Amino acid sequence: MRKLTGTAVALALVFATPIFAQEAMTIEVAESVELGQYLTNAEGRPLYRFTTDVQAVGDQPAGISCTTEECLDAWPLATTSGDPEAGEGAEASLLGTTEYNDVEVLTYGGWPLYYSASDEGADAPQGNEATAFGGEWALASPVVQVEADLAAGETMYAQACAQCHGRTARGMASFPSLAGHDAGYISTRLMQYRAGETVGPNSPLMKPVAATLSDQDIANLAAFISTEFQ
Ligand code: HEC
Repeated sequence: MRKLTGTAVALALVFATPIFAQEAMTIEVAESVELGQYLTNAEGRPLYRFTTDVQAVGDQPAGISCTTEECLDAWPLATTSGDPEAGEGAEASLLGTTEYNDVEVLTYGGWPLYYSASDEGADAPQGNEATAFGGEWALASPVVQVEADLAAGETMYAQACAQCHGRTARGMASFPSLAGHDAGYISTRLMQYRAGETVGPNSPLMKPVAATLSDQDIANLAAFISTEFQ
């Protein structure tokens, strides 16, 4: 009798788990000939972003503009409990969350993510390029243009770069000057070092520094260096 009860309790727990401990979301990438690559949840349900939302930049949180009941019924927010994870093809450093009405909403590249109610039971995404609720809806792409945060770039430059390249980025001895380059040049170089590529004779000094930078860090640094040090 005791044993049976034990089994019953264990079974009840197994079935109850998904309700009480919703798992952290894993973001995957799907691809179709027509639509290219787009983000989905672990079950393959397409994820969208809304053009009138505000992209999170630095410490400034994302802004959700689909707030009415009608809008959220048609475009349910993609929520998660716990830190989201990146599946193959998704960029872990672009994943995040923003709080909305006490739930954690997924963000990618700072953009809040939604599902489309029209995708329920559908084989292919139905909501791409829809115009509704005052804006446009687009499948979320795994590649996101990150907006630069100059202030964050300045802080990081002082903490992680100035000791070698100098406070005014004029360089010294084997540390090259960073002045006079545009943002594209700086970010391309940083991505090369991050990828472990050898650029010049002293790349081994630069690679470990770049290895820890996220796409957002690189955008911030490139914007700051190219505007501050002419
Ligand atoms: C330990 C010293 C050191 C630190 C810290 C350092 N760098 Fe460098 N950096 C170097 C050296 C040395 C090179 C030249 C590497 C080579 O020969 O390829 C370099 C090269 C570069 C280049 C390429 C310059 C060019 O002319 O192509 C950029 C851009 C750069 N660093 C940016 C940064 C940024 C941004 C930071 C801070 C996140 C940083 N570095 C931190 C030593 C450093």
